[in-house]
Amino acid sequence: MAENREARIAPHMVVIPWLAQGHLIPMLDLARLLATAGANVTVITTAANVPLSTSPCPASLRFCVIPFPCPSLTGLPPGCENIDSLPTHRLAGPFYSAAKLLRGRIEHLLLHGLSPLRPPSCLLFGIGFPWLASLARDVLPIPRLVFHGFSSFTHLASHYLHACKTHERAYNFFLPGLPHKVEITRSKLPVFFDKASEVRSVYEEIREGEVAADGVVVNSFEELEPKYAAMFAEATGKKVWTVGPVSMCQREKLDVGLRGRKGSSGVDVDRCKRWLDDREIGSVVYVSFGSMGRLEPEQTVELGMGLVMSGWAFMWVVREGAPPPPVELEGVGERGIAVRGWSPQLMVLSHAALGGFLTHCGWNSVVEGVAAGVPMVTWPLGADQYLNEKLVVEVLKVGVEVGGRKEDEGLVRREEVARAVERVMGRGEEGNEMRRRAKELADKARRAMERSGSSGLSLAQLIHDVACWPV
Ligand code: UDX
Repeated sequence: MAENREARIAPHMVVIPWLAQGHLIPMLDLARLLATAGANVTVITTAANVPLSTSPCPASLRFCVIPFPCPSLTGLPPGCENIDSLPTHRLAGPFYSAAKLLRGRIEHLLLHGLSPLRPPSCLLFGIGFPWLASLARDVLPIPRLVFHGFSSFTHLASHYLHACKTHERAYNFFLPGLPHKVEITRSKLPVFFDKASEVRSVYEEIREGEVAADGVVVNSFEELEPKYAAMFAEATGKKVWTVGPVSMCQREKLDVGLRGRKGSSGVDVDRCKRWLDDREIGSVVYVSFGSMGRLEPEQTVELGMGLVMSGWAFMWVVREGAPPPPVELEGVGERGIAVRGWSPQLMVLSHAALGGFLTHCGWNSVVEGVAAGVPMVTWPLGADQYLNEKLVVEVLKVGVEVGGRKEDEGLVRREEVARAVERVMGRGEEGNEMRRRAKELADKARRAMERSGSSGLSLAQLIHDVACWPV
């Protein structure tokens, strides 16, 4: 009995993040938040995905490392334990299949291998491990929760989209908060709505995992998307806990800790900070396409020249292997800086010199930009990013569109880039209004993450619900 009472106070939550940077980062932040709020947390992942953290972890957070299947079994290049490390997107399908080979080990750990802690009281799995939903049901009578890394807006839109006929060229549907019907063409949809997609079956499995799960944990906050989480919960009959922005947990330490995971030796925090320290307040545009996004060489030139034309200073993150910024940029001198590889994004976004964020609208970047109070120039490339753009531009009104074209729609020209950057950075009425709204949202984000804020309470509720889950 005593054991049971104790278990109710501190449940043992097992977190298994999907093996992609855009999922690992928020799930590790979330694991840290849960551990800090009183849960015992075990993160199960493979060796190359354990963060090279320089910041101390709470004692109640521990990692359990399992080997990734070897190349002879997977057909993947050696060392590829993360979607981002694949040499080509075409290996995403085989990578997903390789991850399924982890099933036996994870099952064994869940049943026998997590001592000295008590057995798991809950499984929180990342989007790429949908089979964990049924695994847990088979072997352990515990709640299975899923973390997609999407906004509530996207969750709800996806729910509506599933009801649309798939042969349509464009989908139209109403979403509360928008004055008109959302129209989105098929080519800009998350890939799982496209029947012709080669990874369609993967996404069908992901959806089955979602259906089998007992609830969804969302990295957002109530005040950012009022009603969308509740409507999503109502539409699906799932429990939803909205607990973000998770990046606000111990922000400054994580910058060089968990955030530095991707080739942390290459993250030159001091160089970025020194450069920003020398710029005027609100004068810099930060340009990043997330952990995987890359532009074609011709588009890279147009973007670069557009940034130069805008007259504003810029910090541009260029992925390893992506086309280098155009040579003409060399003439830009002190006004622009290219960061090769990986930037300390949270530090950059919160720096006083930052005035705008040109982003691909990955959900983490959006929510981090919101938390930092920075207006955005939106340039989605795929996945949920077109939907996130709608939220940023049309609902929250803290950004302007510029990119977001598919190859067949032609290049985004330098003049368009310069104009969009000026609209966001400029001191005219439009820019001032966007900045005011962005700051207001940042204040709300900060309050949401307080213990008594909406996300703080939701996190506590999540731990409580897991501890008291009826079995
Ligand atoms: C992926 C999908 O592409 C995205 O659409 C989905 O919403 C989440 O998963 P990704 O493209 O990597 O994410 O973008 P994003 O969601 O923005 O996540 C990137 C993360 O890496 C952010 O936390 C960001 O702070 C961090 N990052 C990225 C850095 O710290 N430095 C960098 O240079 C780039």
